Amino acid sequence: MNLMSDNKTAILLLSHGSRLEDGKKVIEAYKELYLEEFPEAIVDYAFMEIRKPGIQETIKKLTEENDLDRIIVVPVFVAHGLHTKRDIPKLLGIETDFDAEEASSHHHHHHHGHDHGHHHHHDHDEESIEFDGEIILTDPLGIDKRMYEIIKDRVSEYL
Ligand code: NI
Repeated sequence: MNLMSDNKTAILLLSHGSRLEDGKKVIEAYKELYLEEFPEAIVDYAFMEIRKPGIQETIKKLTEENDLDRIIVVPVFVAHGLHTKRDIPKLLGIETDFDAEEASSHHHHHHHGHDHGHHHHHDHDEESIEFDGEIILTDPLGIDKRMYEIIKDRVSEYL
């Protein structure tokens, strides 16, 4: 047993979801990296929309295969946005203090296209999650020197 896993806790890596394969390869690779370092960990991934497995499907699988007390959901997103503040908590059945009105007025005042326009598809699993344990939603990746190093790497490839 190590500190990054225990048999009562599952880790769910959450990706946005895309019709392209790229996102799946990335999130699958992060799952594999996690398991390479922590072979005992219970780790899987899901997509919040567009692609399967969805959140509910992966949580169902995790809870059926393991006797879990809690699930730690890590949104593998760079920053908070409507998805991490509103949509993902809703899909997880987590209460938030998210103010939809404030966010939508903000959106009207700054209409430069970062609502990427597929939310009207409603292709989420609407089936609710059946899990009695605790679901923890972490922050996204955020501001981190390690991310900055990657940005510099991308630039340096062309300098
Ligand atoms: Ni989206």
